[in-house]
Amino acid sequence: MDTIVQRVNPEYFQDKELEKACQILQSGGLVAFPTETVYGLGGNALLEEASHKIYTAKGRPSDNPLIVHIADMDGLYDVADKISEKALALAEAFWPGPLTMIFEKKEKVPLSTTGGLSTVAVRMPSHPVAAELIRQSGVYIAAPSANTSGRPSPTKAEHVIEDLQGKIDMILDGGAVGIGIESTIVDMSGEKPMILRPGYITKVMMEEVIGEVDVDKAILSMEPKTNIVAKAPGMKYRHYAPKGKLAIVEGDIDSVVAKINQLTELHEKEHVKAAVIATEESKRLYQCKNVYSIGSRKSEGSIAAGLYDILRLMDQIGAEYIYAESFSEDTLGHAIMNRLFKAAGYHRIQV
Ligand code: TXA
Ligand code: MG
Repeated sequence: MDTIVQRVNPEYFQDKELEKACQILQSGGLVAFPTETVYGLGGNALLEEASHKIYTAKGRPSDNPLIVHIADMDGLYDVADKISEKALALAEAFWPGPLTMIFEKKEKVPLSTTGGLSTVAVRMPSHPVAAELIRQSGVYIAAPSANTSGRPSPTKAEHVIEDLQGKIDMILDGGAVGIGIESTIVDMSGEKPMILRPGYITKVMMEEVIGEVDVDKAILSMEPKTNIVAKAPGMKYRHYAPKGKLAIVEGDIDSVVAKINQLTELHEKEHVKAAVIATEESKRLYQCKNVYSIGSRKSEGSIAAGLYDILRLMDQIGAEYIYAESFSEDTLGHAIMNRLFKAAGYHRIQV
């Protein structure tokens, strides 16, 4: 299949630039598009055939449900049932934006979209291209992240091209995304709201609006839990992983730098390619040949935005061993460390 790659400037574009993408969605095809979190691989959420195509293109297990993207509140009432006051308050506060809520699904949402579940995940994205694509096509867009299953999520169109060129109809290239990690997922279908995946919208931010919010035990701790099954099916898979062996090195920064220097020196002696994931503040302290800055410790946002790009870069340079500094687990740091620990298969070195 030929994949059309079309550039769209998110700051300024005209309706007709999305015409082709809308036609493809309306006829059951797949379009990758930018959102404020990561790029999504979109298809018609109400069309069984489209969700099958999504699973095939990503190589994704079909028990891993998709998020349904909507453009307005009418869309929510159309696909979701039993929408609580608390859910409406969260929608009011954080939509459009990087928050996904889980509800009982309406009959019209096929089980192929929800991975066989009776619930549906819904998100109203704020990215202008995503929002306009849903509005103009008149299609609720089922969209997982637009990466091959198991690879880091795409934060640039280049990442989508790397993984999905030739497998999907179209890629809308809107440049680099703003946030860089996937939306927060909160389950609103149970008695108490529960966070299933941490993201840009934090527990504290939600609690300011609706009071107490639980966190799925499977993500509370940064340890692999064999006896606790994650409530978001996708959270159980090894994700975001570079091909090399990644370890997170924890401790005070001087000890971390010393330890990483010692390890990378050993690898280099043995002619094994090693790399370091450092920050703007620390990158000059390493002796390794391959040192990359993920962002600045002064801005958690810059670290989130740089995370997946740097994990992909590790594959490009063919790093066999990768050592990353660790970050605070406060606010956005919780989501960053959640992704980083999963990428490392929970491999950590304490110094
Ligand atoms: O930011 C995002 O959420 C991006 C952009 C494209 O919107 N999408 C995204 O989708 O990250 P995906 O498929 O990579 O992750 C969706 C997650 C999976 O972990 C899946 O298991 C979970 O949402 N999920 C979807 N529906 C669910 C449901 N009904 N119950 C529990 N978890 C659900
Ligand atoms: Mg994903």
